[in-house]
Amino acid sequence: MKETHKTGPTIAVIFGGTGDLAKRKLIPAFYNLFLDGWLPEQFAVIGLGRSESDDKDYQHHLREGLGEFSRSGKPADVQWESFQNSIYYLSSDINDPQAYRQLADKIEGIEALWGTRANRLFYLSVSPRFIEPITINLGLVGIASNPEHDRIVVEKPFGHDLESAKELNQLLTRTFQESQIYRIDHYLGKETVQNILAFRFANALFEPLWNRNYIEYVQITVAEEVGVEDRGGYYECAGALRDMIQNHLLQLLCMVAMEPPISFEAEEIRNRKVDVLQAIRRLSREEVGKYAVRGQYGPGWMKGRQVPGYRQEAGVDPNSTVETYAAIKFYLDNWRWQGVPFYLRTGKRMQEKTTSITVQFRSVPHLTFPSAMSENILPNRLIINIQPQMDIRLRFIAKKPGLDMALTPAEMVFDFNAYSHQSQSPEAYETLLLDAMQGDATLFMRSDQVEVAWDVITPILETWESRPSLEFPNYPAGMWGPENAEALIARKGHTWTVAVTK
Ligand code: BG6
Repeated sequence: MKETHKTGPTIAVIFGGTGDLAKRKLIPAFYNLFLDGWLPEQFAVIGLGRSESDDKDYQHHLREGLGEFSRSGKPADVQWESFQNSIYYLSSDINDPQAYRQLADKIEGIEALWGTRANRLFYLSVSPRFIEPITINLGLVGIASNPEHDRIVVEKPFGHDLESAKELNQLLTRTFQESQIYRIDHYLGKETVQNILAFRFANALFEPLWNRNYIEYVQITVAEEVGVEDRGGYYECAGALRDMIQNHLLQLLCMVAMEPPISFEAEEIRNRKVDVLQAIRRLSREEVGKYAVRGQYGPGWMKGRQVPGYRQEAGVDPNSTVETYAAIKFYLDNWRWQGVPFYLRTGKRMQEKTTSITVQFRSVPHLTFPSAMSENILPNRLIINIQPQMDIRLRFIAKKPGLDMALTPAEMVFDFNAYSHQSQSPEAYETLLLDAMQGDATLFMRSDQVEVAWDVITPILETWESRPSLEFPNYPAGMWGPENAEALIARKGHTWTVAVTK
């Protein structure tokens, strides 16, 4: 639980300090935490980058990013001036051990000024190949060796497959204790995602129904309007399965399907999530074709604008067989969920940006009303809209006002924004950085979580890689994905919940 006094003096070190993430997400998050009074008085950020620069130029570069990317907009002079004094820049070569000596001097210098040993947060916002030299050098120079105070934050991708994820975990745990390692999945920091826990476990109403007896199926959609933008090089080695399903969508599934935790302790919550991942029925290679659908976008139209196909994007092989869309039907082998399909789908260049979870309840067991009246009796349905729409909507059937007995679907809606007392909800990175500063790992991925998640998708990954699709591109940009995805869900008479209505 976050409390302002819990954040002790902190030095955040950003490897990749001149990169996109620092400018778009990390510094805006720190700045907003500062504005909202969450940062301790003794706080510093040290950005590390290859380019020659100094504190002043670096501060200027970051300020520009704030104007563009921060939820609070362009910073006011007075506030920025007081914040910028805590930002330092070190020009350094990540592979050079000498750079770590300089970093140590810088950190110890700041601590000497403060007269205290600070919490040190080492944020690895770098390409995966740099994790090894950074870890080894941090170990050698001994500046991250206090398990009480020192933490390392690792961005995704966390490995490329199960084997590489295991190697990465071994590499990190040679230098750090597991309790020091914070593996980020930014979806877990989203307000609406955290609210799933409150919704499920702070209400007595839903939990008794939350099982195979009342739920027909669950559906999780993460649809994006964007294509691969300037990340073609990265995406060619990833694809939708690695980029989204292995992490974000499986984490959402865990939140929906987990057993009630006994406490709000990080280990307890993470144990319950691992239970879910363990329970997911592994597909055999022969079953992959039946349970998983892949797609790649071709040229198309997005909101009246013509856009290129994936194969025409910068950094992408013109014959690429990388999937930009994936839909999978999972089953969970446990008492609660036996026989309930969990449909997961994600895609780039979809018609609309939306992340939502649909819980479809079973139909009423007996129709009391005459058939003419019963046409409108749709099963109850709960939609949790994660983004950009942020609400929870429960569909139920009501009597239409009037003298005759007519029925109609109606909705009860909880609107996150209307309810929020703040003008804007905090961004995921604000939540996650603050948690990491306070030593709360609940919303971060434990090593076993990451490995089981890779294990779940391994048969699909291997099958798809060994049998490249001959049908790509198989959906035009601006649509809802390939036709096969409709067939995947229609087999049991189910449909994707596309439209999220206001
Ligand atoms: C990232 C993926 O993890 O999540 C991107 O690498 C994707 O490909 C992004 O666009 C989506 O995040 P959000 O918060 O915009 O839904």
